[in-house]
Amino acid sequence: MCGIFGCISKDVKVAPVIRAALKRLEYRGYDSVGVATLHEGGIHIKKDQGKIDEVHRLYNLDDLPGNVGIGHTRWATHGAPYQANAHPHIDCLGEIAVVHNGIIENFSELKAELESSGHKFRSKTDTEVIPHLIEDNLKKGLGLVEATLEALKRLRGSYAIAVISSREPDKIVCARMESPLVLGLGENAVYCASDIPAFLPLTNRAVVIENGELVILRADGYEIRSIEDWKQIIREPEIIEWTAEMAEKQGYPHFMLKEIHEQPRCLTNTLRLQDQYLDLMATFLDRAGEVFLVAAGTSYHACLAASYMFSELAYLATHPVIASEFIEQEGMAVNINSTILAVSQSGETADTLSAVDYARNRAATILGLTNVVGSTLTRISRVYIIQQSGPEIGVAATKTFTSQLSVLAQLALRVAKIRGKVGHKQIEEIEEKIRRIPEIVEETIRENEDRAKKIARKYKDKPVFFFLGRGISTATAMEGRLKLMEITYIPSIAYPAGESKHGPISLIEPGFPVVFVCPMDETRKMIIGNIMEMKARGAMILSVIEKGDEEIKKLSDDYFEVPGNLPKVLTPIAFVVPLQLMAYYIAVEKGLNPDKPRNLAKSVTVK
Ligand code: G6P
Repeated sequence: MCGIFGCISKDVKVAPVIRAALKRLEYRGYDSVGVATLHEGGIHIKKDQGKIDEVHRLYNLDDLPGNVGIGHTRWATHGAPYQANAHPHIDCLGEIAVVHNGIIENFSELKAELESSGHKFRSKTDTEVIPHLIEDNLKKGLGLVEATLEALKRLRGSYAIAVISSREPDKIVCARMESPLVLGLGENAVYCASDIPAFLPLTNRAVVIENGELVILRADGYEIRSIEDWKQIIREPEIIEWTAEMAEKQGYPHFMLKEIHEQPRCLTNTLRLQDQYLDLMATFLDRAGEVFLVAAGTSYHACLAASYMFSELAYLATHPVIASEFIEQEGMAVNINSTILAVSQSGETADTLSAVDYARNRAATILGLTNVVGSTLTRISRVYIIQQSGPEIGVAATKTFTSQLSVLAQLALRVAKIRGKVGHKQIEEIEEKIRRIPEIVEETIRENEDRAKKIARKYKDKPVFFFLGRGISTATAMEGRLKLMEITYIPSIAYPAGESKHGPISLIEPGFPVVFVCPMDETRKMIIGNIMEMKARGAMILSVIEKGDEEIKKLSDDYFEVPGNLPKVLTPIAFVVPLQLMAYYIAVEKGLNPDKPRNLAKSVTVK
């Protein structure tokens, strides 16, 4: 998730406007920054790694000349955040500059094709194929707009782009496929941006660009066209009433709620990972003597769920281990045949890194799954995968968790394919459901949000909660419990349901809330037994059930319903969502700020 911005003005020097706008987009990423402007027949660029203020201090971004320009603040997806990879990217002749937010899925093929016809690439990014494609089209005699249009038709994946060219300095061409793009209409200037906060202090007149649209911006207006059939689209601006702070959260009251709602989009991103890295990692996992899944907090719960996935699909035994326990628990058993799959959203969690360091010193193979390109974990892993969730600002992890699960399920499927343990039909069914998971999660949010509000009002004063699940739902229960506890401060416990009668059941007294995670898998009959045990002792049953599970619905005081009829290995991705919503709304009911729970940090870099 990066931030792009473009500005074309009748008479104002745009560089300071662009820098200020990028600063307001910094929450979308801050690995590197760059600005390109047009002036006297040439393109002027300044860019480097680092946050906007740091880069500005070194280069004075404001003194770029000209009334037309584009800028970018980067959240790296392809290529580490060093200078050559910072946007804008240019063509061979330096006549075209492009900023991009999104992922070009087929960039490897396009890059190979362009290189073989003589194009020279300067970066490792997927974005750089765009200026080179446009360059080829300009050479064929097309104008900038048509050249961009033809280039877009070759791209697969997601993008919001803004393009300028010294050949046609009277315009910015921008376009959208999935990644967000909004226009802002000022008195003397027109803007395009990833998000409204970028231009909100300058104008509150905005036009939201839809998927598959290309826009030609001129200093006095805009023209929207359909990329598919070039039909003109007339759309009047709307007046935005948000404050700057509201706009940064896209109108949501908290980042956590915004990030819960971003999950469908993030899950779609996880379906666009580069095959070669998934395959390589799957090969390492398949060949490992033993596999340790090492992580902390929410990422550990992803590992716990993954251990069920690897066993179920790939017949591969893996050991999920809490990072801070790893050395004591498994240390002496780690050797050259061991493979560590470290999972860390930030890639910087000290406990995880020290477990990895230890294992490296014992010659183990290190694999990494993280959300942050250039993080320490990416530097010390033999192979790593970037989960493409964009920055997560709420301290309680939500979108990064479900995306980790999606990546881990895809990995388990690939190991399954290598091992040939699971039939084609089952693999195809699961693959089909993975593709549908973004829409299933979207539906889950839509259908459960109001219910979560009601349940939050009803349960907010309960002094304690109990979360139970069986099989892979144990991981879902544990994550549901962590969400509730960390942001509402309500003491909570989670157990595998079967274990509950070996101790924790003694806590139950009338009115005690017990949350059951109950997908329709083979654990369901046993879960019903556990529900009965709890009911018999007066517990209040709050269940997360498969849509249409009337039997458990009847046994429950309250319930959330999850659509989609998911295979059990994918259930945590959707079943955790109502629990995220419930935790969020209970925190709000209690007057707490869910984004900043006391005593917690987003990234814990001390042991
Ligand atoms: C902290 C955060 C958690 C997170 C954990 C692991 O405790 O508050 O939300 O799950 O660290 O972080 P990581 O970046 O390694 O996934």
